[in-house]
Amino acid sequence: MVIPINGSWLVLSIALMLSSHGMIITAQHQEVNYDTNDPHRTAYHFQPPQNWMNDPNGPLVYKGIYHLFYQYNPNGAFWQPDIVWAHSTSTDLINWTPQPIALTPSEPYDINGCWSGSTTILPGDIPAILYTGFSNQKYEVQNLALPKNLSDPYLKEWTKVPLNPLMVVTPNNNHSFNASSIRDPTTAWRLADGKWRLIIGTHQGKRGIAVLYTSKDFATWNYVERFFHSAEDNGMWECPDFFPVYVGKSLGADISVIGKDVKHVFKVSLFDTQYEYYTIGTYDINKDIYVPNEGSIESDLGLRYDYGKFYASKSFFDSMTDRRIVFGWVNESLTQTEFMIKGWFGIQAIPRTIVLDQSGKQLVQWPVKEVETLREKNHVEWLSQVIKGGSLIEISGITSSQADVEISFKVPDLTYVEELDQTWTNPQILCSLKGTSIEGGLGPFGLLTLASTGLEEYTAIFFRIFKGPNKYVVLMCSDPSRSTLNPTTDKLSFGTFVDVDPEDLSLRTLIDHSIVESFGANGKSCITTRVYPTLAINDKTKLYAFNYGTVNVNITKLNAWSMKKAQINLSKNMEYHNEEHKDEL
Ligand code: FRU
Repeated sequence: MVIPINGSWLVLSIALMLSSHGMIITAQHQEVNYDTNDPHRTAYHFQPPQNWMNDPNGPLVYKGIYHLFYQYNPNGAFWQPDIVWAHSTSTDLINWTPQPIALTPSEPYDINGCWSGSTTILPGDIPAILYTGFSNQKYEVQNLALPKNLSDPYLKEWTKVPLNPLMVVTPNNNHSFNASSIRDPTTAWRLADGKWRLIIGTHQGKRGIAVLYTSKDFATWNYVERFFHSAEDNGMWECPDFFPVYVGKSLGADISVIGKDVKHVFKVSLFDTQYEYYTIGTYDINKDIYVPNEGSIESDLGLRYDYGKFYASKSFFDSMTDRRIVFGWVNESLTQTEFMIKGWFGIQAIPRTIVLDQSGKQLVQWPVKEVETLREKNHVEWLSQVIKGGSLIEISGITSSQADVEISFKVPDLTYVEELDQTWTNPQILCSLKGTSIEGGLGPFGLLTLASTGLEEYTAIFFRIFKGPNKYVVLMCSDPSRSTLNPTTDKLSFGTFVDVDPEDLSLRTLIDHSIVESFGANGKSCITTRVYPTLAINDKTKLYAFNYGTVNVNITKLNAWSMKKAQINLSKNMEYHNEEHKDEL
């Protein structure tokens, strides 16, 4: 089939297939001359120049260089099982250089795909990749790859070890798991007994399960009968992550740190809903199990890194700066067909530092400080400004389609706060119910991003305050219902309750053409949304502070910057590298 687009062309060879990413795939190979002026391509978010990308894989730092691997389909803007590990490197987590593809299907144990996994730094500073291979029998097995040349800080070449596969569940070895859904090994950690441990995600019916494997030498791995952790009504657990966080210190902890001053975080990605959740708890090293804190909610109604689009996330310890940093895949909200035409699919969120909040009850995230190097010098600053009920104020003087905005609000009077109805327990539903245009007592107030001149299009990020039975309740929403005139876009609202003093509220929003990433209350609650404006594009984009509640609100501070374009996977290099490795694909 040949579809003409913008003077270029698209060739699709059609075949029907159901992907693990829940969509019907209609092609096995796609060639596309993509539109370089596509207004939805991002300027400072990680993307390959073209084709499909999903999970971030095995981020690490080695000899001063950051590495990010990712699930990539070199054949087009769609997922297919025989996906590869593409690879990029960086010195600042923002500008990225493409490297040769690190892993491609080649052996019986991964011939149908090199799926997600993690890296572990072995003694002697040796990085090791553990990944899931989709085998010739369509089993998911776990494999090891090591760098060919340890003196190369770019780790350009990787060798799969002859012992592979190292961890196999088959119908014959008495495990009651589906051999075709046990995947995504974590970074391994080591306790005082010298043994390595890692977990892998799986399920038995609706029970989500993390199975534990241990090893003395990183080569022979033993399955541990007792589940490391499991939870009912979760379905398949993809991409588990397990790591320590310091209590009362804003530093990241390396993977094997244990002790009184750390708690542990356990995160899973739910295949069934495509959302993630995490709990905070205790790692019981005597039983080798994880125990979430009492009262933890073990579903995506619980704590999330991000209450919007953010999936298959993976954290790593940055030993250069003592930070734990998390990457997350941001899925699209257009139809697959539209992306086949665009020729690309998927971006990564700006990497975030992640620490335990002072309260110990949740995590706090913030975009890595390196992203601030993209801020243009001349920026907009407001010191104090009243924003009257039912009004909006334009924030002019910056490139609103590519911006970083920090805004703080002070609520002078809580008298007129709306009562929280007892049935409003789900914040996402509440955000849809009380969208941007419904007037409340206090709120909605926040930002209208990616707005067109006549406000035909905008994406709102805002707060609303309610009076609950014993305390005030702050709701944070991202409402894309007016984000585009394109009728086929998914315009679902996202929202969360924020555990914060309602009188002082802050919002930081990173805007980048088709993504709006928002951090409420200094990183206590994050919401990422994908939007595809048709009018509010490039220099036709506007930005507003708004207050559609009845009561006035004070803006105590606003700083807004235009963001420079980052150097990310410049296509020439990428094509060159793909060309170089063509035989392997
Ligand atoms: C998550 C996931 C992983 C799997 C990979 C395949 O998005 O389904 O579980 O390893 O993607 O691309």
